[in-house]
Amino acid sequence: MLEIDGVSKKFGDFYAVEHVHLQLEKGVYGLLGANGAGKTTLMRMICTLLNPTEGEIRYEGAPVLKAGEGYRKVLGYLPQDFGYYPQFSAEEYLLYIAALKGMKGNYAKARTRELLQLVSLEKAGKKKVKNFSGGMKRRLGIAQAVLNDPEILVLDEPTAGLDPKERIRFRNLISEMAEERIVLLSTHIVSDVENIANKILIMKNGKIQTAGGVERLTGELEGMVWKCLMTHEEAAYAEEHYTVCNRKKEEGGIMLTLISKEKPAVNAKVVMPSLEDVYMYYFGEEAEEE
Ligand SMILES: Nc1ncnc2c1ncn2[C@@H]1O[C@H](COP(=O)(O)OP(=O)(O)OP(=O)(O)O)[C@@H](O)[C@H]1O
Ligand SMILES: [Mg+2]
Repeated sequence: MLEIDGVSKKFGDFYAVEHVHLQLEKGVYGLLGANGAGKTTLMRMICTLLNPTEGEIRYEGAPVLKAGEGYRKVLGYLPQDFGYYPQFSAEEYLLYIAALKGMKGNYAKARTRELLQLVSLEKAGKKKVKNFSGGMKRRLGIAQAVLNDPEILVLDEPTAGLDPKERIRFRNLISEMAEERIVLLSTHIVSDVENIANKILIMKNGKIQTAGGVERLTGELEGMVWKCLMTHEEAAYAEEHYTVCNRKKEEGGIMLTLISKEKPAVNAKVVMPSLEDVYMYYFGEEAEEE
């Protein structure tokens, strides 16, 4: 078990991560949050690249900072701005990372072949990475992160820049890999975590706002998500006063989906909350600013 015990990170007076408590066991955890929420900072602390200002991270009961090399051996990390070597082929790159991780010749070769297959890059193994598409680079990034068959896999925005088909492919790959390990992935795309994460952690302003499975999180909004057909004037008013999750022009007016504790209009009907509604509930204002 990976325990994050009251962990904070301050930059000057500013809390990038504030008093986070989490206990992670095998499975997929989706860290969902807007830009600047603190996702990367939290992940870098988990990977011992950054020291917490307060609190402690423990794996199997031992503080990770003290465990040092022993802990890093069981860790795999895909950084958000993952640097590859453009002149290397995919195969050369993986062999290079394998060498850095202290893997021996024949084993490293076999593992490289196995991983290229796992991330569906076996045909591109000899191709230079600089000629890869964004999705291919991401998949290569995932391959390097799992080279050492880690018990803890930390993926920082692994789906950034992937097209829908590659997103789906990636999700399936993660589900497969998560059976025997802790996978923590960050994203601001709701559908990435909706289908594969056992637990979703919603992070905002350095704090975990809420955590749980899809049903638990959507359950929090039960009876608070409404659909109603409105005139332009009513819709404009509603957009000022409520968090609007969706707006669609229809015959006879504008169909709004909005969040409200009380019935917002006589013709409003309660609908089942979706994870996207939950996201809007926490990040609505910020999402509008974007
Ligand atoms: N080294 C640093 N020095 C000062 N402030 C920092 C530093 N690193 C991060 N921050 C600040 O901490 C906050 C959290 O940053 P972080 O990169 O963890 O967010 P994030 O959730 O990963 O965002 P994004 O979705 O954009 O990747 C931001 O306000 C950022 O400006
Ligand atoms: Mg980040």
